[in-house]
Amino acid sequence: MIVGVPREVKPGEQRVALTPAGAHALVAAGHRVLVEKDAGGGSGVRDDEYAAVGAEIHGVDDVWRSADMIVKVKEPMPVEYQQLRAGQVLFTYLHLAPAPELTRALRERDVIALAYETVQRADGSLPLLTPMSEVAGRLAVQEGAFYLGRAHGGRGILLGGVPGVPPGNVVVIGAGIVGLNAVRMAVGLGADVSVLDVNPDRLRAVDDLYHGRVVTIMSNAFNLQAVVRRADLLIGAVLITGARAPVLVTSAMVATMKEGAVIVDVAVDQGGSVETIKPTTLLDPTYVVSGVVHYGVANMPALVPRTSTFALTNATLPYVLALADRGPREAVRADAALGRGVNIWRGRIVHPAVAASVSEPATALDAIA
Ligand SMILES: NC(=O)c1ccc[n+]([C@@H]2O[C@H](COP(=O)([O-])OP(=O)(O)OC[C@H]3O[C@@H](n4cnc5c(N)ncnc54)[C@H](O)[C@@H]3O)[C@@H](O)[C@H]2O)c1
Repeated sequence: MIVGVPREVKPGEQRVALTPAGAHALVAAGHRVLVEKDAGGGSGVRDDEYAAVGAEIHGVDDVWRSADMIVKVKEPMPVEYQQLRAGQVLFTYLHLAPAPELTRALRERDVIALAYETVQRADGSLPLLTPMSEVAGRLAVQEGAFYLGRAHGGRGILLGGVPGVPPGNVVVIGAGIVGLNAVRMAVGLGADVSVLDVNPDRLRAVDDLYHGRVVTIMSNAFNLQAVVRRADLLIGAVLITGARAPVLVTSAMVATMKEGAVIVDVAVDQGGSVETIKPTTLLDPTYVVSGVVHYGVANMPALVPRTSTFALTNATLPYVLALADRGPREAVRADAALGRGVNIWRGRIVHPAVAASVSEPATALDAIA
């Protein structure tokens, strides 16, 4: 198969969908890999690193025209719609439910569109979203520690403290992927860490892992009120799958927080778990409410595109290889998780949530693939 890797054109996007290691694996399996010139630039990957493993460097039009399968990071932008051709496989983040324009374009272009975010294992886990949650969770503590610096608007606290001076208090709400990764970083820095969840099994997992080094607390309004007041750094990491994030920290609770405390609400991409949070950008990440620094960046992994590129491609490569080796029809039949990734198959909408968003019935994958 010919696999094409265009340079991302969405403003601010610096990741790339395939690393030299991925290109190496595809070439070794007998495929051709066409990488657009400077596609890896934003992630610090040079063209010659791809060329060294047998990938071919081409102009943008050649990549789109020749490829049987396009692997990307972000959804196609309008300038890319006309590049898609009938029968081509497109594998990328798509987020089609709120994007009827893009859904229409993908149907008209007659492509087979698989979305990273709907690839789902039988246990419900989302293997191609997990790596970005890992990045965001770890980054939440790093960014929070930075904004606790006095010169950055914070309380002037070193999270680890020093001998004779107590460490900073970090409260993590939600013990899922983001939350556990935040806890790990906060513990590593030597902070005083508490984590809350509504699921006792998640709290048990933390307790087992940290042997009492991390305080686990059932998440409810009463307990939240008590811990929020003490926090130097508060991290929002909750998710109710498919729903808006629940607002757990009210503006009245924020008003009880210490002057110069920092809130990093990672769940801001789902509406946020703190009443006073609003989405911000990496260019202007913070603002202050009630003396508390608020950080609401909705695309945190974009701050560390190199790490994010490697994390994402580690997860996507096995699926890319399966699609290339077996062809899309056989690959989605052989792996139900990948099958759930199919959103549109040559004009027909397969994914139920995408179909619902344009008020149409979904076509069963078995009926077409
Ligand atoms: N801002 C960013 O750049 C960025 C990047 C990646 C992920 N995210 C977002 O971070 C959020 C968390 O993602 P995740 O992968 O960790 O999800 P996850 O499903 O792994 O974890 C969510 C956790 O929240 C818990 N929870 C639900 N309701 C709760 C409540 N009332 N109180 C306390 N805990 C509660 C769940 O039990 C679960 O353990 C999502 O909204 C995700 O979209 C944001």
